[in-house]
Amino acid sequence: MKELTLHTRSGTHQMPLVMGKTIVAIAKEHKLSWGYACERGICAQCRTHVEAGAEHLNEITDAEKLRLRKAERAEGYRLGCQIKVIHEGNVTLAHRPY
Ligand code: FES
Repeated sequence: MKELTLHTRSGTHQMPLVMGKTIVAIAKEHKLSWGYACERGICAQCRTHVEAGAEHLNEITDAEKLRLRKAERAEGYRLGCQIKVIHEGNVTLAHRPY
């Protein structure tokens, strides 16, 4: 079974892969602290580093293009409220707010 691994300040959490939901929504369901305020790609409290499985995620959204610098995106940073897993595969993400 494919897994979603989330690194937060409280540790590493592994769970079965869930597709089509944002990472912020999944973190909330599992009561993990994954900062968020707007869920619209504005506050960046949900800033996330994609450590593995980028190819299984949705395309970078327009909100992410506006909020994150090009260099950050090139380094694998995204916004947890915009990321969804859309293909089956192991994905590892880390919450990395500013
Ligand atoms: S929750 Fe505000 S940018 Fe993601």
